[in-house]
Amino acid sequence: MSTYLVFGATGNVGRRVAERLARGGAAVRATSRTPEAAKPPQGVEVITPDLEAPGALDDVDAAFLMWPFHSAEPARPLVDALKRRVRHVVFMTGGGALPGVAPEKQPNPVARWHATVERLIERSGMDWTVLSPSTFMANALWWSTQIKAGDSVRGAFGSLAMTPIHQDDIAAVAVHALTEPGHEGHRYTLTGPEVLTQAEQVRLIGEAIGRPLRWQELTLEQERARLQADPGFPAGFVDELLDGYTTMAAAPRPRVTSAVPDITGAPATTLSAWAAEHAAAFGGARR
Ligand SMILES: NC(=O)c1ccc[n+]([C@@H]2O[C@H](COP(=O)([O-])OP(=O)(O)OC[C@H]3O[C@@H](n4cnc5c(N)ncnc54)[C@H](OP(=O)(O)O)[C@@H]3O)[C@@H](O)[C@H]2O)c1
Repeated sequence: MSTYLVFGATGNVGRRVAERLARGGAAVRATSRTPEAAKPPQGVEVITPDLEAPGALDDVDAAFLMWPFHSAEPARPLVDALKRRVRHVVFMTGGGALPGVAPEKQPNPVARWHATVERLIERSGMDWTVLSPSTFMANALWWSTQIKAGDSVRGAFGSLAMTPIHQDDIAAVAVHALTEPGHEGHRYTLTGPEVLTQAEQVRLIGEAIGRPLRWQELTLEQERARLQADPGFPAGFVDELLDGYTTMAAAPRPRVTSAVPDITGAPATTLSAWAAEHAAAFGGARR
């Protein structure tokens, strides 16, 4: 039986990759900095993310790697450890990393460090698959406090068009790439099934929870101050997010790709379905 390593197995995507692999009967080893608190799915062994530790990569055939770091610095030791033991790495890169563009020419720091890791993996000699997902639907949970408290969501870039993707669709693709032949050497751009502005996403969440919601536009500096004061928003991520949105706003309107249905055989999940699934997080009843 193949053993799979899932790096970042308590995260949005990693948790679902580990769950799907375990449900399919695979042996799964997953990482968390606090294994005792990780609450893994049934049958998943949790280790710390030290891949040089004895036994960490024993019997591992393929690994799912995401990038929780805020630089490319940890990449070399991590990729070196993997390439000594692992045949195939499926790497989830940052949505902003432009394909075929050298790291130093990427549009912002987040894209630069993701592109650096991609390049290291592609030159490592391991088989590789890169998944480049669009904006996660899960990001909408950052609006949950505002939605629970009232009928409007304040933010910048309300007219910014995105192709939000369900984290489980990314995980489904990752599992296909890990467990089936034929995905080696591919870089897949993964999107949800529709192009939606942030204001449209808020409206659809309102429909899913049965309460009209509207977008209230802030200036960039008002939004920076609001996020910095928001205890529910990841500390240290404010400038990264706003830089990313500024880059996206200057880029051509995004397009839906068919990668999710092509690879999984199932349609990509709509934002309305995601919102209905997460209604309780927005103060609505789960449908
Ligand atoms: N959000 C988006 O819209 C979007 C779009 C495209 C791409 N992405 C990319 O997706 C990645 C984030 O994925 P995600 O949302 O699934 O992750 P996440 O939910 O933020 O989870 C992070 C995972 O990494 C682990 N982790 C955190 N810091 C770590 C460290 N210093 N060393 C080792 N492990 C660490 C955490 O586990 P423990 O805390 O248990 O250790 C957790 O399992 C980023 O590369 C981001 O650029 C995001």
